[in-house]
This record gives sequence, structure tokens and C-alpha cells, in this order.
Amino acid sequence: MSLNVYISNDNKVFHMTNGTISYIMGVLPNGHLGQLYYGTGIQNPQDFQETVEILPRPMTSCPIENEWFSLEHVHQEYPVYGNSDFRQPALAIRHPDGSTVSDFKVCGFDLFDGKPHLEGLPAVYTESGDEAKTLTIHLADEKKQLELDLFYSMFKEGGILTRSASLTNRGEKPVAIETMMSLSVDLPDSDYQWLQFSGAWGRERELKIRSLEQGITSIGSRRGHSSHNHNPFVIIKRPYTNEDDGEAIGFSLVYSGNFLIQAETDTYNNLRIVAGIHPDGFEWKLNPGQTFQTPECVSVYTQKGLNSLSQTYHKLYQKRLTRGYWRDRPRPILNNNWEATAFDFNEDRLIEIAKTAQNCGCELFVLDDGWFGARRNDKAGLGDWKANRDLLPNGIEGLCRRMNEMGMEFGLWFEPEMVNKDSDFYRSHPDWILEVPDRPGCHGRNQYVLDFTRKEVIDAIYDQMTEILDKAPLAYIKWDMNRSITEAYSRALPADQQGEVFHRYILGVYSLYERLIQRYPKILFESCASGGGRFDPGMLYYAPQAWCSDDSDGAERIRIQYGTSYGYPISSIGAHVSEIPNQQVYRNVPLHTRANVACFGTFGYELDLGNLSAQELDQVKSQVQFMKEYRNLLQFGTFYRLKSPFENNISAWMVVSDDRTQAIVGWYRTLSHVNQPFEHLKLKGLDPKMRYTIETVGKHKYTNRHPYGDELMHFGLITSDGLSGQVMENDKYYGDFDSRLFIINAESVQ
Ligand code: DGJ
Repeated sequence: MSLNVYISNDNKVFHMTNGTISYIMGVLPNGHLGQLYYGTGIQNPQDFQETVEILPRPMTSCPIENEWFSLEHVHQEYPVYGNSDFRQPALAIRHPDGSTVSDFKVCGFDLFDGKPHLEGLPAVYTESGDEAKTLTIHLADEKKQLELDLFYSMFKEGGILTRSASLTNRGEKPVAIETMMSLSVDLPDSDYQWLQFSGAWGRERELKIRSLEQGITSIGSRRGHSSHNHNPFVIIKRPYTNEDDGEAIGFSLVYSGNFLIQAETDTYNNLRIVAGIHPDGFEWKLNPGQTFQTPECVSVYTQKGLNSLSQTYHKLYQKRLTRGYWRDRPRPILNNNWEATAFDFNEDRLIEIAKTAQNCGCELFVLDDGWFGARRNDKAGLGDWKANRDLLPNGIEGLCRRMNEMGMEFGLWFEPEMVNKDSDFYRSHPDWILEVPDRPGCHGRNQYVLDFTRKEVIDAIYDQMTEILDKAPLAYIKWDMNRSITEAYSRALPADQQGEVFHRYILGVYSLYERLIQRYPKILFESCASGGGRFDPGMLYYAPQAWCSDDSDGAERIRIQYGTSYGYPISSIGAHVSEIPNQQVYRNVPLHTRANVACFGTFGYELDLGNLSAQELDQVKSQVQFMKEYRNLLQFGTFYRLKSPFENNISAWMVVSDDRTQAIVGWYRTLSHVNQPFEHLKLKGLDPKMRYTIETVGKHKYTNRHPYGDELMHFGLITSDGLSGQVMENDKYYGDFDSRLFIINAESVQ
């Protein structure tokens, strides 16, 4: 079935469908927009008006005289504050007379092919008109001369629906927007489990599951960035839904600042989901003639379980959120010096580290923090983006040249949004930070947040960055951000606009990214915020990959990367092999496991390879060779979660090529136990009719049998391990934190 939008003759029912899903809205008796159906595609194009249930209920308030209609119990599309609905509104406005009641009635619509660009905001895009259709429903609060547009874009493929809203003030006085969400959807029951991806610095995006009950369940951030603590992504699923089957809906907010995603179950088990900018600390003054546009929320609906939901996000975010030169390209294998040297380096030392890396086949050397200004520790230098000539006598340009001459691409770390008070930049512009004048502000890691609501501040950073980038042909930039925002007050804004600071700040970050990627389209950007503190879809629009976590331990990373995979593609997951004992958890995960985890990511090394033995270096060379051979498949293949590290001692995942002729399975064991049961790992996504060969890494034949895909998926791959410590590495047996990669190839087609 093709992508269609059916609109009833009286313009009161709107049915968007692509066959896979249907999204149906209708005009309610009071003129507001109601939600009629969201789920599996249904055929009947119209005729849904009578599905609105209006029952007289005690204690309800009714906006229409002599009618029992109340907004409290009907399903709405974009509920407003202050009328007969007492649930969380999508929109709350303070009008010039101080009242907070709004009344938006449907007054028209537009339908067009493709999807609009959101000015200054990241968003999913289309490349041709036939990929999606966009329905804009126009609503107006005539008395207050306000216009509200609700944007719905449905994609032809998959269960994808994107939503956002804009508000325009046609009146003569400013109004204050107190809440304006990107999405609100009312569902007819709440028999769902809520899946969130939460944690903290170093243990980001752990899967947490709870049931919904009457009341509110929510996650969010008020820290100025999407945060390590919560990710702007939630899934609701039926209790029976598993990885392979069952109903689930994902809500993913394309935004990097303060956010709220909330589920509210009411007295009658109606479920309202809202997602958007966190209303706390937010207020936007909308002057006459101005429009406010919300960020976008991407929903994915499926009946096919969580793997299918994730795969839809993976492909969408890889192909229609990420942009530019690196979008479809496998990522360079890098060596980053942070965990190798921290601040203790000079040019020759870096060259020495890079030489070993290059010898092992790495393609890119990344110089992390500490190369600029007076930065010898984390107390000074941020804001002074000029090479420290004591360390780098030839500057960035000279170092880059030396790297390039030896065949390595070169990349550099910046933290553009921050300043240390001990810097020339701060001394010249002490009033360019966010702080409340006359009140001591908090520092975080000795640094302060630049006022990115101000163009002149962003310009000054841009100028310093371009000065370097124009001279040195960098291949990569790591854009870090190492503290949350406190004292969100801008000296440049009047008192009644201070509620805009958080949002204006993130718009400022986006604008700097945009200017840089336009000017240097071939530079690969990796976003970072003390690891995974800004791992969100908003960032992926500018930086195709993100440093996943500062916890680089191979065992911890299995959980972090597994959790991340629910909403984000493997090509976006920054993952490196680091040294042992690991710097965060002091654990000794064997080298092969560290690599077997990192290869389900962008892959690189975060250590001085020169410290490894000759035998280990040979192993590294083989890992790099393996990654070069398979990175396209690993990063862009179809990814399946097989066994969760949140539930099991053994975990597993796999990728399959589009034509299903090739697959790689990653199998990981946390602790080794003796004399374990038999274990068959059921694979997914293979062609049941193809026969496959199976090898482990290093081209060791795993079995002489050539099983068919159906056998591998239903009987499974035998991974029984009766004894422990089967893998030999450097003449040692490893029991704990063991792993294997299985390479599965279709027999050549006869
Ligand atoms: C935090 C990042 O996550 C690390 O990888 C490293 O770049 C440090 N900052 C440098 O200060």
C-alpha cells in the first residue's frame, strides 16, 4: 500500500497511512483537534468521527453548554492548559492580560510531498518528495490572534512519523509561551511497559523498564544538555513484546538541550505521552509577528518487536538525519592520545605514539585535550584556541603536516562552549559567561559556560577555530562539553527573556556546528560531553558519531553499547580499545574482548600502542585488518540484539548484510563458570534458504558443517562451553570477560 493522506469531505477527519501504520485525527465537537487512532495500518480511509466516545462522567467540566463533552476524557492531539482537561498540556501560554487559557480550533490544513526543513534546528530530512508526506494542520485562537501549526510527516517506509509544532503571534502584544511540546499523543489504554535509557557519567543508557500506573512517569534533563542521566528516547511496549515480536512505540526527541518525555495515565487508563523542551526553566517571549518552532520528535511504531523498532531508527538516523561526506562512509580507525598521555605530551611524543599506531594500520591520529593556551591541567586555557608552542613548536599546522607526511590523517579536540577563568579569552571578556551578575556562579571541572545565546561570543570562537582549520587540513574534530549548565542567565537578554537562555544556548551550539560543517564539509565531527552526556539525535544531525562513554572498559562497554543500540545506529557509537588495567574500573579485560566490543562501533585505540608486547602488537594488527575488511558491514549492516547483558552473564549481538550473505556475531561472557549447560545462540536475520560457513576471527574454521540459515536461526549456533577459559591469548587462558566473533558467510551462490 502506498503513502496516503485521506481527508474527509467535510475536512474533519485526517487519516495518514503508509500501509504499515495509520495515524488518524479528527475535529472534536469544540473545534479542537482529537486523536482517533495510532497503530497498525487500517484500510478504511474515513468514517472515524463516531469513534470519539463522549460519556457523561461525574466531576467533569464541560466547555459546551448543555453537552456532556469534556476534554478531560477525550483523546487530543495538542492539549492546551486551562480548560476542561487537567492533564499535562502540550501548550501553555500566558496572554497579555495575564490569563493562561487558550482555545485553538482547527481552521485549515496543507498537504505536501516531502518534509520541511526546520530553520536552525536539527531534523530528519527527505531527499525526494516521494519519501514522505507532510500534513500541516492549522489551528487558531482567534480571540488571542495566535496561530498554531502542527506538522506531521509520515515516511513511505516503516512506521515512522515525525512531529513538531509552531506558534505565530498575529496580535499586537507579546505573549509568553510557558510550555510548548513537540509531540503529544493520547492512547486509549495504558497497558504498556516504559523503557528508558538512563544512568550517569560512565554508565550511560542502561535499560530500565517499569510498568505504567495511574499517574505520571517521566524522564528529562534540566542540565542544559540531554545528559548522561537520561536520554531523550523512550519506548513503550506491550508487556508481551520482546525483541522479535509485539507492539512497541518509540519516541525520540531530536534535541540536545533540556527535555521532558512523560507518560500520564489517567483515571480511565487513557495514556498521554508528551515529549519536548522541558517546561521547567523555559519561557519564551513571542513578540508580534514572530514564530516559535519546537524541535522535532520522531515516533516509530511497530508490531514486530524491539529489534525491528531499533532497526528503523538506525536506518533513518543513518540515512536521513546524519548528513554530508561521512554519512555513508565507514569510519577511519583512529588512535586517540587521551588515555595514553592525558596532558603529558609534546610533539615528538605524539609522533612516536602515532608511528606505532600507523604501523599497526590505524588511519587517523587524534590529539585530545591540552594542546592550547596555558592548558597543562584542567584549571587553565579553555577559550584560548591557539597551540601551546612549548609543547608543539610547529603549531597544529606543523604537527598535522608531520602526521600527514607519515601517512596518518590528523584530528583535534576542542571544547568550544567553555572557558577557564585562567585564560586570555576570559580576561578579555569576563562578561561573556552565563552567570547571574553579583552572585558567585558554580564551576564544573574549573570551567564556565560561554554565553552561546550571543552571536558575538560564538563568532569569537568560530574565528579562532577557523584560524586553525584554514591552515591545517584536519580530518576530524572531537567536540567536547564537560559540564552541565548552572546559573542560566545571559547579560544580553532582558529580564522577561531569561527563560529563553537554555534553548537559545543550544540553538547557538547548533549554529556553530552548522557554520563549521558548511565550511569544512569533509571534516568528521565526533560529539562528546564527558563521554555520553549529549548522545542524542540532535547532535547526530551535525556530528555523525558520538563518544559513547568515558568508561572505556570492555566489559562495561557491552552494557553501554547494548543500551545505546536501542535508539542509535552502530555507525554513531564512538568505541575504542583502551589500556589495562582500565583507567575507570581497574579491570583487566583481555585485548581480544576489548576489540570485539569496540568493533561494534566506530573503532579505534585509546592508548599508547608502544606499551604493548610484540605479540600484542601482532594482535592489534590483525584487529585493524579485520576491522578494515568488515567495518562497512559492522557499522552499516542490520543490527540485532540477541542476548541482553542487563539480564545475562552471556550477551550477544550480530550484524547482517542487506543481501543476507554475510553476518558477524559478537558473543561475550562476563564471568566464567565451570561445567556450564549446553548453549545454542539463535541467530537472526539470515536467509533461511542459504547455506553458511562459519569461522571465528583469524579465519579459523569453526565447524565443517555448512548449516542453512533456518538452522542457525531456530536450532542456533552452538556456543556451549562446558569448561571455562577456552581462549588462548598470549599463552594465557582467559576465563572472565572472554568473547568470540563468528564470521558467517553464505556459500558462494551456485
Ligand atoms: C572528556 C572526554 O569524554 C574525554 O574523552 C576527554 O576528551 C576529556 N574530556 C578531555 O578533557
